[in-house]
Amino acid sequence: MAGFEVGVSVLVPAAGQGERLGRGPKAFVRVGGRTLLDWTLRAFAWADEVWVALPPGAPEPAARANVRFVPGGSERQESVARLLERARGDVVLVHDAARPFVVPEVVDRLLATVVTAGAVVPVVPVPDTLIEPEDGRYGPALDRGRYTLVQTPQAFFREVLAEAHQLARSEGRTATDEAQLVQALGYPVELVPGDRRMFKVTYPEDLVLAEALARVWEERPL
Ligand code: C5P
Repeated sequence: MAGFEVGVSVLVPAAGQGERLGRGPKAFVRVGGRTLLDWTLRAFAWADEVWVALPPGAPEPAARANVRFVPGGSERQESVARLLERARGDVVLVHDAARPFVVPEVVDRLLATVVTAGAVVPVVPVPDTLIEPEDGRYGPALDRGRYTLVQTPQAFFREVLAEAHQLARSEGRTATDEAQLVQALGYPVELVPGDRRMFKVTYPEDLVLAEALARVWEERPL
């Protein structure tokens, strides 16, 4: 990345089965003629190294100069821990393979912030009304303006993330993203604007949106 001098390792947990999608393993599902994983690998062709956690036993995708593979763990956090053991960059970007569309402007924001902050994630507003159901019925509405949805890539000093993972392991704590683990260290995590096009492919209907976006992605007219 232009103007960025420390080494960047990209860590891609891609070992999930994609149960909610019903067509796993999710990283190998195709949109626009490419696997979800391949979309991500193309987006990070500039990185010093990319480490990918694959479902154990999965065939390795075609070789790319900066990409290496490791067998993933049974949980996302374990997959990331295995990737982190291999990473050598001063900065790591952790990115879910389930998010095929990586917006370069967001990556630029993350890299610009991480060099001073050491921990930064992209966020997007909550579009829907947000409630806490009570016994399956409508419960208190939360003020959605006070909440935000967290995306990946998430950027950290490698040593901060390694310490966060070590602490979580020693306390037997799990989290759905890396920022939670870093925050548990008492280390502040900055927020930068994310982008709704970096949505996570989770449910079957997400593939319809992904196919449509894939058709126009190279021109990125949105
Ligand atoms: O299931 P979910 O969509 O939250 O998974 C987020 C990311 O974590 C996906 O890219 C998935 O492949 C990855 N993952 C993993 N190892 C697991 C479970 C999930 O690398 N054991």
